[in-house]
Amino acid sequence: MNRAMYPCQLVGAQVALREFRLNDLDAVMTVVGDDRVTTSLSFDTRTREQTTAMLDGIVGRAKKELRTEYYLAVTIMDDVLVGFARLGLDGVQAAKLGYAIAAEHWGYGYATDAARTLVDFGFRELKLHRISAAMGPDNTASIAIAHRLGMIYEGCIRDHVYTNGGWRNSLLYSVLVEEWAATGTAGRRASRGVPRD
Ligand SMILES: CC(C)(COP(=O)(O)OP(=O)(O)OC[C@H]1O[C@@H](n2cnc3c(N)ncnc32)[C@H](O)[C@@H]1OP(=O)(O)O)[C@@H](O)C(=O)NCCC(=O)NCCS
Repeated sequence: MNRAMYPCQLVGAQVALREFRLNDLDAVMTVVGDDRVTTSLSFDTRTREQTTAMLDGIVGRAKKELRTEYYLAVTIMDDVLVGFARLGLDGVQAAKLGYAIAAEHWGYGYATDAARTLVDFGFRELKLHRISAAMGPDNTASIAIAHRLGMIYEGCIRDHVYTNGGWRNSLLYSVLVEEWAATGTAGRRASRGVPRD
């Protein structure tokens, strides 16, 4: 059912998504080492040491036979890393979507394109049934992305994450495979990857 793709490379309208490499450290620091970005994430700003460990983990998990996540670098132009997008496989044909873009690249549509490309990959290639995304109630940019992707608001998850020194609610959105197919988005994205099985 869940064909593990490695390496996974996806091409969107504006961005490309690829596997992380250990030498992405400096670029990844511009994302997870920046308070402006992490204030809306479920984890606190990371040091260089923590980011090295994070990258080690992502790179290692990506190569596992049973892949539990597609945690991909979001790149523009000639492989300039501007952020990440992640599908965390969770339950039966279900996944959680997450994304972040370095602050200097906000507002160009990169997160929307990355999320749309990854969601399309999840439904078309991974044969998922449901993809959800949880975001802080004040995260207007992320809420706009959920709406743009045709996600449906499901409700508020109380004290969902502990971040930046306190508990934070999340708004839960989701999209189902039949809804995705009905948007006409399916088929617009090319994906490249090497099936493991
Ligand atoms: C949320 C985030 C990923 C959006 O990235 P982005 O590449 O700027 O997003 P896009 O350019 O695709 O824009 C998406 C929408 O957000 C809006 N937007 C972008 N930056 C914004 C900002 N600083 N404030 C308010 N809205 C903003 C855009 O206008 C767009 O809305 P529209 O569709 O109504 O025009 C980015 O702000 C970020 O990394 N934030 C911190 C991490 C985070 O919140 N991740 C998501 C957790 S669920």
